[in-house]
Amino acid sequence: MTEQASDTRTFQTIGVVGLGTMGAGIAEVFARNGFSVVGVELNDEGLARGRQHLENSTARAVSRGKLSEEEQAELLGRISFSTHLEDLREADFVVEAVVESLETKKAIFAELEAVVAPEAVLATNTSSLSVTEISTANAHPGRVVGVHFFNPAPVQDLVEIVRTVVTEPRVLDDVTALVRQVGKHPVVCGDKAGFIANTLLFGYLNHAVSMFEGKYASREDIDAAMRFGCGYPMGPLQLLDLIGLDTAYEILETMYRQGRDRLHAPSPILKQMVTAGMLGRKTGRGFYTYDGPDSPRTV
Ligand code: 3HC
Repeated sequence: MTEQASDTRTFQTIGVVGLGTMGAGIAEVFARNGFSVVGVELNDEGLARGRQHLENSTARAVSRGKLSEEEQAELLGRISFSTHLEDLREADFVVEAVVESLETKKAIFAELEAVVAPEAVLATNTSSLSVTEISTANAHPGRVVGVHFFNPAPVQDLVEIVRTVVTEPRVLDDVTALVRQVGKHPVVCGDKAGFIANTLLFGYLNHAVSMFEGKYASREDIDAAMRFGCGYPMGPLQLLDLIGLDTAYEILETMYRQGRDRLHAPSPILKQMVTAGMLGRKTGRGFYTYDGPDSPRTV
């Protein structure tokens, strides 16, 4: 845990709602930095998936010598699991990381209002929805912010902190300090679809899909061009498989609807792949084929 600025608030217990890829990764980040974490999922199946994700990710760190088995056990021991939002009553900072559905997120924020203390800070990890709209479900929208982590959350250093027109400056300062405390690099931006990074990234990713769709070059060559020519850790089609094609489609759609920039009009093949269930790593097939969500590509 990095030193905390002395004039900002000390958070103790972190709630994470939704333990999918991002939620589980976010829970890991906080638990790794000594926080007590309460992870909430809809049902036992979701909880089991989240727990498995956390075990796999920390086991990988152990096998690479980044974490001892004892530290792994301590880290996992700091996370408790529940299927009830009421178990977040002790949480002073809650991150929601459920599906990108405005209705679902608003319902969760409305319910949280009745559960957490009035001074608790509520954050959404949305990557494409309006934080302002989500915050309207809350009687105190001034305590709502966006905290946008990147995938894989335990690895990527950036967190975008999204302020709405009513987010209290104090909340923004406290959350910025918290993000620093868990070793991440905060950047602050306004509430516009795509925020900073996705606005810049997704035009590029979408263009790569068009190139693939138009059979201009093979998937391997498109990816190799950006890896070996530009030093990107992954090519654009590999990255889309990591992000999830459904998520990518939703992000592009929202940005296109809001900004009307043709760069963000989703390439038709993206929609077709999503409809066919080719969502990338998480379903074993996207632009490439995988044995499992965490495995390298096989075809
Ligand atoms: N969970 C935890 N740790 C992971 C991980 C995961 N899912 N995947 C990789 N790692 C760790 C490894 O353990 C390793 O750690 P170490 O260096 O401490 O030993 C390190 O990351 C490097 O992993 P690998 O050697 O297995 O593989 P690579 O060197 O190829 O790195 C990668 C994998 C980190 C995914 C790298 O390819 C990368 O950074 N890719 C780009 C990812 C990116 O751009 N993400 C942003 C997507 S956009 C987004 O998230 C926004 C959203 O709104 C859609």
